[in-house]
Amino acid sequence: MTGLWEQLAANRAETSERKIVSLLEDSARFDQFAAEADGLLLDASKTNIDPAALALLMELAEAAGVTEKRAAMFAGEKINETEGRAVLHTALRADDSAPLMVDGADVRPAIAQTLARMEAFAEGVREGTIAAQNGARFTDVINIGIGGSNLGPVMATLALAPYHDGPRCHFISNVDGAHAADILQGLNPETTLVIVASKTFTTIETMTNAETVLDWLGAGVGPEIGAHLAAVSTALELTANMGIAPERVFGFADWVGGRYSLWGPVGLPIMLAVGAEDFRAFLAGAGAMDRHFVSAPLARNLPMLLALVGIWHRNICGYGTRAVLPYDQRLSRLPAYLQQLDMESNGKSVGLNGAALAQKSGPVVWGEPGTNGQHAFYQLLHQGCDVIPAEFLIAAEGHEAGLAQHHALLKANCLAQSEALMVGRSLETAMQIAADLGFEGEAQARQAAQRVFAGNRPSVTLAYQKLTPFVLGQIIALYEHRVFVEGVIWGINSFDQWGVELGKELSNALLPMVLGASAEGKDASTRGLLAKLTG
Ligand code: F6P
Repeated sequence: MTGLWEQLAANRAETSERKIVSLLEDSARFDQFAAEADGLLLDASKTNIDPAALALLMELAEAAGVTEKRAAMFAGEKINETEGRAVLHTALRADDSAPLMVDGADVRPAIAQTLARMEAFAEGVREGTIAAQNGARFTDVINIGIGGSNLGPVMATLALAPYHDGPRCHFISNVDGAHAADILQGLNPETTLVIVASKTFTTIETMTNAETVLDWLGAGVGPEIGAHLAAVSTALELTANMGIAPERVFGFADWVGGRYSLWGPVGLPIMLAVGAEDFRAFLAGAGAMDRHFVSAPLARNLPMLLALVGIWHRNICGYGTRAVLPYDQRLSRLPAYLQQLDMESNGKSVGLNGAALAQKSGPVVWGEPGTNGQHAFYQLLHQGCDVIPAEFLIAAEGHEAGLAQHHALLKANCLAQSEALMVGRSLETAMQIAADLGFEGEAQARQAAQRVFAGNRPSVTLAYQKLTPFVLGQIIALYEHRVFVEGVIWGINSFDQWGVELGKELSNALLPMVLGASAEGKDASTRGLLAKLTG
């Protein structure tokens, strides 16, 4: 692989001044650098990757063993080595009945059974046959969970708002009491269903919020609150300790990572909101992307292409962040969702072999929907000192048929931004603009300098017909597999998250000090802050 990295670096050294737009003079480029899977198009032609670099990147992926690791993941091998677990979130959305063995047992029957139980429960709640203690239909659902037990359902319920015909869904994640207080304020406990979602059922934020919300329920409906509770977890004995009846508990196996869990019981709020049929369409979209990922040739394979663009920008160009810019207001939580998916998976500096990585791994992922972002941080994207590769998402069609003019504007803005980033504006044009404004001499040059756009800033665009449940499933699975491929190339385990442990441990140790115990032994800064916050 070392030779390939060097060849890629040499390609970059030769081409870094080349204009992306010059690559697009080749009429075959769009066809070569844009690929489609079941109606989802990925255009990677507005990057400075040329065919020779793409070939090297594909060789790099092969040399890293992406094909073998992909097969190992789908086959249920324990590729999450540091935790000794298989990685099989894909099984939750597989339209496949062939046995899939983990630890000597076929996992398919339990998956189907849990999905059927979820559907019976969700449809019962939606129809009113599973009702509140007083027989009333549930009008609201609160999901208590954090990280992977929160971000997926939050993102997806918002994304699928046009499909909502079930109870309203609310989410409490932050241990900040303000979150619980603000959500509970507008709700009636008599018609509210509470889901406690935690893979481990030990996460302190979730357990603290659950206690508060259970008290609120008790105060509202009396001591018998069982009808108002459900749980989602891998830790069934702990859910029982919270008094949640076993038939109200939806379990899943440890081979579903938290940030990959929305396809199973963690997706219960999504199913409650949109119904079982649309949830199945969401699973089908992800399943279709899985099949594409497994079967499409490298050069036509969306997750591979997106990953290779990521590797090029991160490692060969040295860009430290990537911006996710959905031109889709209902994907406004997608960047936050992808922050966990990408940064918790690939924000590592040690490889599977225990040694420091030879290459930099996961970049910072951030973003906001367009067009809002245009009026906030796009200034920096266009004229800032750092190049930030952008990832645009746009639908051909909105859900608001009567507001077609809005959608036309949205599409024009999305296309304009990727074009502006690439094409920029020359000094010559800027000088003319300054002259037209009446500036002359030195003033004209000074004014023109402000109006120059360096351009040549890369982007990719994901385009789809409409944000349906199927398309949402495709998009999320695409990003999951992109993270996987990048992780394999970097040689890391994308499925553990040891980096979140230290903060948890220290916060346990700090809690008594926050409550008044001596802070002796702590550093001077922490002692000073404790004095300020507790004095
Ligand atoms: O932040 C660490 C983490 O373990 C995530 O990976 C996970 O999604 C989140 O906490 C919540 O964990 P749980 O579902 O076990 O409460």
